[in-house]
Amino acid sequence: MTPVLLTHPCDVDILARLHATSFTDLWSADWIARLMAQPGTYAYLVDGDVGGFILARVAGDEAEVLTLAVVPAARRRGIGTILLRAAAEKARQMGAETMFLEVAQANEAAKALYIRLGFAEVARRRGYYGDKVGDGGDAVILSVKLPLIWL
Ligand SMILES: CC(C)(COP(=O)(O)OP(=O)(O)OC[C@H]1O[C@@H](n2cnc3c(N)ncnc32)[C@H](O)[C@@H]1OP(=O)(O)O)[C@@H](O)C(=O)NCCC(=O)NCCS
Repeated sequence: MTPVLLTHPCDVDILARLHATSFTDLWSADWIARLMAQPGTYAYLVDGDVGGFILARVAGDEAEVLTLAVVPAARRRGIGTILLRAAAEKARQMGAETMFLEVAQANEAAKALYIRLGFAEVARRRGYYGDKVGDGGDAVILSVKLPLIWL
């Protein structure tokens, strides 16, 4: 399960397909291509259509995870961890000192993954996801200092 680095231009169709397996708000291939074309943006892919991907962006000394998805059948095999670690290491090489991401309060799986890798809550957006998520839909902003400490 070696993560493959993707930079613009790349096969964005596969990233859109993977995204659609994991989120109800669909990101089109065109939208992903526009994100990938922005300076500092990159993706890592594991196992193609049967694995997952992460999309991240570095600006100055900050990195941001834009999205992360692992197909349902491949979850709990460490792919999410591999992707996040690869993205964090790349961000550090690009000069980032801190990595941020946003996650729905109700997303226990993702929060467990992030907290295990050292992320901690730095802010909260009340009702950010509206009715899309059951518990009031708060968004939680998490951050971690780079490099990740791997326990
Ligand atoms: C979140 C997600 C990317 C995790 O990917 P994954 O490949 O299953 O993650 P890993 O196998 O690396 O899991 C690492 C650890 O995270 C935690 N974790 C992952 N999924 C979990 C779950 N469903 N419940 C509880 N803990 C979970 C566990 O501690 C796990 O370690 P363990 O399997 O040894 O117990 C995946 O569930 C997913 O794509 N979800 C839908 C999209 C999404 O929510 N993306 C994140 C948006 S912010």
